[in-house]
Amino acid sequence: MCKLMWVNNEQYQLQKNVEQAGSFLSHFTLDQVHRVTKFHHTYEKFNITPLRSLKAFASLVGVENVIVKDESFRFDLNAFKVLGGVYAIGRYVADQLGRDIDELSFEQLKSEEVKEQLGDLIFISTTDGNHGRGVAWAARELGFQARIYMPAGSAEERLQNIENEGAYAEITTMNYDDTVRYTSQLAKENGWIIVQDTMWEGYEEIPLWIMQGYTTLVKEIVEQLDEAPTHVFLQAGVGSFAGAVVAFLQQYYEQEITFVLVEPYVANCYYESFKAGTEQFVTVGGEMQTIMAGLACGEPNPLAWELLKTYTKVSICCDEEVAATGMRILGHPLATDQRIIAGESGAAPVGCFYELMTNRQYTELKDTLQLDENSRVLFINTEGDTDVENYRNIVWHGKYATI
Ligand SMILES: Cc1ncc(COP(=O)(O)O)c(C=O)c1O
Repeated sequence: MCKLMWVNNEQYQLQKNVEQAGSFLSHFTLDQVHRVTKFHHTYEKFNITPLRSLKAFASLVGVENVIVKDESFRFDLNAFKVLGGVYAIGRYVADQLGRDIDELSFEQLKSEEVKEQLGDLIFISTTDGNHGRGVAWAARELGFQARIYMPAGSAEERLQNIENEGAYAEITTMNYDDTVRYTSQLAKENGWIIVQDTMWEGYEEIPLWIMQGYTTLVKEIVEQLDEAPTHVFLQAGVGSFAGAVVAFLQQYYEQEITFVLVEPYVANCYYESFKAGTEQFVTVGGEMQTIMAGLACGEPNPLAWELLKTYTKVSICCDEEVAATGMRILGHPLATDQRIIAGESGAAPVGCFYELMTNRQYTELKDTLQLDENSRVLFINTEGDTDVENYRNIVWHGKYATI
């Protein structure tokens, strides 16, 4: 069985698409990103996450540098997702108060005065684990309640982590996309506020705030880097994360950057959409069981689709072994490279990159991407060991081995 499948997206880099995507870029300008970061920094325990340069690994595979932003350190929550949830809840509360988020701090939002004005708000969301944990954390920190629903097959440990944040949490019998529809219905029936990391017609504002929330990590990256990356590999579930990163970097740097999307085989809605070559995306359904739980989504976020179809060069989907290889590479560094604890969704792009750089079967892909000794390749480890048992099975016991 082949480990990667890929499709070149060049057919989408049309003038018409660039104009359309261009209109969305205004949500991700440096000014806009400053506003988001300013709010995040009002949280007293806010810390910048590290950026690692894996020079020995880069030299092994034949590029100039491999750079990894390590989001496993974000807010002690082991994943980047909270950046979106807390910003969206903050914006929502500020709006309800008729105030501008720019004038408000985390402390002010959790004050008694705010509670008196707004009463008990209940936030609801669907999650594979990380987003819901972020929403639960943000709701608790700000003194509100959260109800979090997870797709069938979700890890008990991830459910437990959400409950530990004081939220009601439940694993449903549905896949991710159907669970999203279910929570949306529950929100309507009960007057709860849905904080979902994907968009649909009539539900655009909160998902956009979530995407904007992610940009704090990208602003940190450009401040931590001396030189622009030549390539950025981004993992995609619904694509909100990748869309936000691409939208900001595309505007920030003047030179061209090659963006590559990475998904699991079983949830490859971007890959299938690019393959179809149509204006509209296609969706994939079914159970979507994969160790890359954060990426197990079959329906793209429509805003992210507009951005990603225009600005990504290649879309890759990979099997479980590739993600597992990425986890082992980052967990067992070479020479003086630093160790990175990366979970399944966090490590998949590194696994893909290693495979395409070292397996002759993918020479055409490597050439298409022009990956060579002048390439500075950026990755974002979006999660740490959010499923510790699976992490150990893979990294210690060799589960999903490639030989
Ligand atoms: C660890 C991790 N990485 C990446 C993603 C992908 O984000 P998106 O669904 O916005 O594409 C997720 C989504 O939950 C995730 O949990």
